[in-house]
Amino acid sequence: MTDQPVSPLAGDFVARPTEVLAGYRESCPVAKVVAPNGRARWLITREEDVRAAFLDPRLSLRSEPRDPGRPHRALDMSLVNYDPPDHTRIRRLAAPAFAPGRIAGYRERVAAAAGDLLEALGEPERFELMAEFAEPFSFHVLCEVLAVPGGDRAALHAAVRVLVNQRRHDAAALESAVDHLDAFVRTEIAARLGGAGQDVFSTVVRAWEAAEGSVTEAELVDLLAMLLLAGFDSTVQMLGMCVLALLGEDGPTARLAAEPGLLARALDELLRWDTPGPFSTTRVALEEVRIGGSVIPAGGRVLLAVAAANRDPRCHPDPDRLDLERPDAARHLTFGLGPHYCLGAALARLELTEALGALLTRWPGLQLDGPADGLSWSGGHQHRRLDALPLRPGPPGAGRTRNGRTGNGRTVGVSR
Ligand code: HEM
Repeated sequence: MTDQPVSPLAGDFVARPTEVLAGYRESCPVAKVVAPNGRARWLITREEDVRAAFLDPRLSLRSEPRDPGRPHRALDMSLVNYDPPDHTRIRRLAAPAFAPGRIAGYRERVAAAAGDLLEALGEPERFELMAEFAEPFSFHVLCEVLAVPGGDRAALHAAVRVLVNQRRHDAAALESAVDHLDAFVRTEIAARLGGAGQDVFSTVVRAWEAAEGSVTEAELVDLLAMLLLAGFDSTVQMLGMCVLALLGEDGPTARLAAEPGLLARALDELLRWDTPGPFSTTRVALEEVRIGGSVIPAGGRVLLAVAAANRDPRCHPDPDRLDLERPDAARHLTFGLGPHYCLGAALARLELTEALGALLTRWPGLQLDGPADGLSWSGGHQHRRLDALPLRPGPPGAGRTRNGRTGNGRTVGVSR
């Protein structure tokens, strides 16, 4: 028997983070709680405070490799383990490749990936969105964007799947997945040196060569390996959560399918509504930091509650109503803010827009196959996972072509 206090971030928190965090936001907006690992965390829950904290250099992300004694391996460090100026120095290699203008060039391929996967599903009576669509879609897009060779994709997918769901795997499986990722990234770096590829991986390698030693090879390996993880499961989960939001009671799917143009605006509201990441990465206070009326001591470990900020009535009127035309929905913090703002935000937006557009166009009568409160959630308080989202497609949409796309390859029914 242990007398360790029960963490409010454990148990069914993954199924109802918004509800749990609203309690803190309204009664104790800077709260010291126990994390599931038994360590203390400061929760910041009001929008204004979360926004300021993302921009506060006194809240540091800097950490050291866990085992500096052994040779470097992919993922020993990641971009969210550095503060400026090191963070700026490394992020600079990848930022141009992820700029919205560059990412827009992948639109046709992303739309084709969504259309082909839906086409392969045929006309099922029911299907499971996460395994049968969201996961293969997100991984395929990532492989296209990084130009992963076709023959490497299956084994890489298996390794990445282990690493994004670590709780379900033992230490040996995790070790072997990191080894695989490490070998893949190093082999591909060697293959792309001096090349002219326009994909994101090659562009980053070229930027590294041009940086002439200001970024180490270890930092490059970590950066590229991180893209494969950060770019995969967040999008899978977000897609599931968007569909779930749309299919909730009196869900507005039919309206979205019928009103071209609404989806582009509605996406920010869907991103505000729910997120796989209720919290930021943990920050550490470098000195005493006053937030609201509270003082976080030097060394205090801080979680910025994005999910609470996104539903703060001080910023989003009537926050618990899903309003696809909400004027200021884009103020959400689902992609973070400041120096660590999500590098892949433009890509994630493109994927979500194309995937949701293709789904709703093909099946405007899409419905949950079972009650929403019967869904199973897993993962942890910083990365929640929807285990499965069973759906019933209903009759096919009237205007779709054979593969859910118009002749020019764009998804019909939804403009961007
Ligand atoms: C809907 C999907 C996604 C969500 C909700 C999401 C969310 C976030 C958030 C909140 C952060 C900031 C973390 C912090 O400051 O503590 C972040 C950082 C990051 N994300 Fe995403 N992300 C998504 C998709 C992607 C994709 C598709 C990629 C790349 C292909 C990506 C790559 C990154 C990277 C590299 C960082 C670290 C940036 C830095 O530290 O400078 N993310 N993401």
